[in-house]
Amino acid sequence: MAQPAQPAPAPSPSPTTGPGTDTEPLPADHVIVLFGATGDLARRKLLPGLFHLARAGLMPGRYRIVGTAPAAESLTDEEFREHARQAVAEFGRAQPEGPAWEAFAAGLSFGAADTGAAQPLVAAVRTAEEAVGGSPHRLFHLAVPPVAFASVIDLLGATGLARDGRVIVEKPFGTDLASARALNATIHAVFDESRVFRIDHFLGKEAVDNILALRFANGLFEPLWNREHISHVQIDVPEHIDIQGRAHFFEGTGTFRDMVVTHLFQLLGFVAMEPPVTLEADALRDEQVKVFHSMRAVDPAHVVRGQYAGYRAEPGVDPESDTETFVALRVEIDNWRWAGVPFHLRSGKALAEGRHVVTIGLREPVLRMFPLDAREAADGRGNEIVIDFADPGSITARFLVKEPGPSMRLAEADMVFAYRTSFAAENSLEGYEHLLLEAMRGNQALFTRSDGVERLWEVATPLLDAPPPVEPYAPGSWGPDSIDALVEPYRWYLPDRRDHEP
Ligand code: BG6
Repeated sequence: MAQPAQPAPAPSPSPTTGPGTDTEPLPADHVIVLFGATGDLARRKLLPGLFHLARAGLMPGRYRIVGTAPAAESLTDEEFREHARQAVAEFGRAQPEGPAWEAFAAGLSFGAADTGAAQPLVAAVRTAEEAVGGSPHRLFHLAVPPVAFASVIDLLGATGLARDGRVIVEKPFGTDLASARALNATIHAVFDESRVFRIDHFLGKEAVDNILALRFANGLFEPLWNREHISHVQIDVPEHIDIQGRAHFFEGTGTFRDMVVTHLFQLLGFVAMEPPVTLEADALRDEQVKVFHSMRAVDPAHVVRGQYAGYRAEPGVDPESDTETFVALRVEIDNWRWAGVPFHLRSGKALAEGRHVVTIGLREPVLRMFPLDAREAADGRGNEIVIDFADPGSITARFLVKEPGPSMRLAEADMVFAYRTSFAAENSLEGYEHLLLEAMRGNQALFTRSDGVERLWEVATPLLDAPPPVEPYAPGSWGPDSIDALVEPYRWYLPDRRDHEP
């Protein structure tokens, strides 16, 4: 079989900067090792994401990608290239063709690895390093189920592959405080914390960086961001999809562990943090972890767990399952900025829409100067800042204006900034792409840290120990009815707060 061409140097206009990044350096040369290379995550996100980075000129000048899996699922190099080609064709933004694909595919190889029998992988990594030349960085991506984390870490330690390498660990990071601590101990036995990149793909979304920009780059917003001016905050991530056949995973996990302890709490850290001294990883994560330490433990009385009608009939689900497919909760942050400001969080499957929305509810000013009917029109309509972090996302400021006409009546108006109409969206990276790039750059700012992860499990413990029973809800709804009482005297902003009015 003909040898594939060598990967061409990255098609970057300059050796040190990539398009769309202006000032950020390209990552140093790398050998990336993908554990779980034949699995779902690699197929849907990682292989298409790496190819997109290559097309965007954001991969290192020289790199190789080594796929690995147990020997029972071993592929030849050629089969792995074909596997990657199909993955990119199905899930990528650009088709796997032309010189860009040829160059990318030429850098793919495969080496199987089992505990005690990792020789094919070790040989493949060595060959890849020789092809790159010099001393490339090693980056291991553990796209494997949590049960396999420890054995892969042990394998990396035992073979010496781990030396000077970095490791990306997928979620879920433990299922409670004890398991998270045990997993951290296993990882730290081989990789010190500065080389560990715990991935939460929500932190790779543009809007997370944009929360930092909105809050800390604007005199317009920064002075408002505290309990003096903000009455409540909502972090709302309803999903339209159901469990999509993932009964095995879901039954053992549930929405609280799958979405809240991970994605929603991480977002909360960014919405609520104090200004970091810099955007460097340590400074940023110190502030985020301080928020987690200020959080009160979750009170089960402030939690609604739901389960969509029909869930128990899904193949693989226990007919008496108590697993939640929905959760809404109120959490409190007991610090000087946020004391007394409730944070309402919601996420669930099979809901009416899939959305990602953070709403900041601002306190109402005194309306006495307005005539009575104007005040009635304004009743309950405080100002809001709504951050919709769908890709590409938008930010809306909602406020009151005078309705045109002879009388003084107040009405709501929106000031909308939409990424789609404001910037060239082709420069944007999908969450995983952004995080893979940051891991190659060695920047941990958008990755979770061991102390933060453990603290979040600690906060979650009262709920895990005594969960309230699940309440049923209709697929296509916004969750069980009792969620309205949970947020009183406020209201859920989705689907649209106007729809909630009597
Ligand atoms: C994953 C969860 O981490 O995030 C899934 O395991 C969920 O259950 C997904 O559907 C949501 O991610 P996104 O980016 O599509 O909102």
